[in-house]
Amino acid sequence: MMIPANDQSSLSLLYHLNSEPWRNDQAYTAEPYVQEFPLPDPSGPPINLPKPKTTALSQLIAGRRSVRAFSGEPLSLDALSSVLHAAYGLVSADPQDTNLLPLRRSVPSAGGSYALDVYVFTQSVSGMEDGLYFYDGLRGRMLLRETRDGFEGLDQVFYTHGFVAKANALVCLAARFEHCQSKYGPRGYRYMLLEAGHAAQNICLTSVDLALGSLVMGGYVDSALLRELKLDPLKAGVLYSVAIGHPQDR
Ligand SMILES: Cc1cc2nc3c(=O)[nH]c(=O)nc-3n(C[C@H](O)[C@H](O)[C@H](O)COP(=O)(O)O)c2cc1C
Repeated sequence: MMIPANDQSSLSLLYHLNSEPWRNDQAYTAEPYVQEFPLPDPSGPPINLPKPKTTALSQLIAGRRSVRAFSGEPLSLDALSSVLHAAYGLVSADPQDTNLLPLRRSVPSAGGSYALDVYVFTQSVSGMEDGLYFYDGLRGRMLLRETRDGFEGLDQVFYTHGFVAKANALVCLAARFEHCQSKYGPRGYRYMLLEAGHAAQNICLTSVDLALGSLVMGGYVDSALLRELKLDPLKAGVLYSVAIGHPQDR
């Protein structure tokens, strides 16, 4: 079924703005999820796959887990830089070069549109004041938006704030809707979600590599978060967020 919305963004905005987190407490007390469903009927004998190779990457993948307790010890600027570079840094040119075209970042992007903006709330990062920053991945630098008192006030934004209260960075992957949707229309919304997933996974795997913990978070109040970031809800949305810090249990 199609809802008549023939412009580039009405359809996705209708969905995006109406998908704030549900208060569905019952779901959290119900039985655990079924994790395996009936298999499709085979039309031949199964082919048992060989044991997967152990590689540096396979070990990072196996080492990734959701960390829900952080120690609060300071994070080095080097570590933050590495994690953010993996998320959305420039990989094909020298960041000091003023001629940055054509761009290639650390993640695939539909049509090379790179519609994400990376905002970071920091707390106890060496060499930086606590605050809200914009990550300028093309030039490898942080632009201060405002100083803040740690993560104060963010408990009203992130549903699982208690888990990340002692993390060092809350990375918010925000989309500039127009940037991708002027080319791809409503489908561009899907592309931006997928791009955010690529960036988030790079954050998680790089965190494992640096002995850091990460927690991806989809549970946040969009309207409250956009107020903190001072973004217009009709033009931008946070698609995903990831906390990074030193895990309490190592
Ligand atoms: C899209 C998405 C949103 C998530 N949102 C949250 C969240 O808001 N808070 C949280 O504590 N965990 C969140 N998680 C983490 C999952 O609960 C976790 O990945 C899952 O239980 C599997 O555990 P693992 O990550 O340790 O393998 C989210 C995961 C995904 C993929």
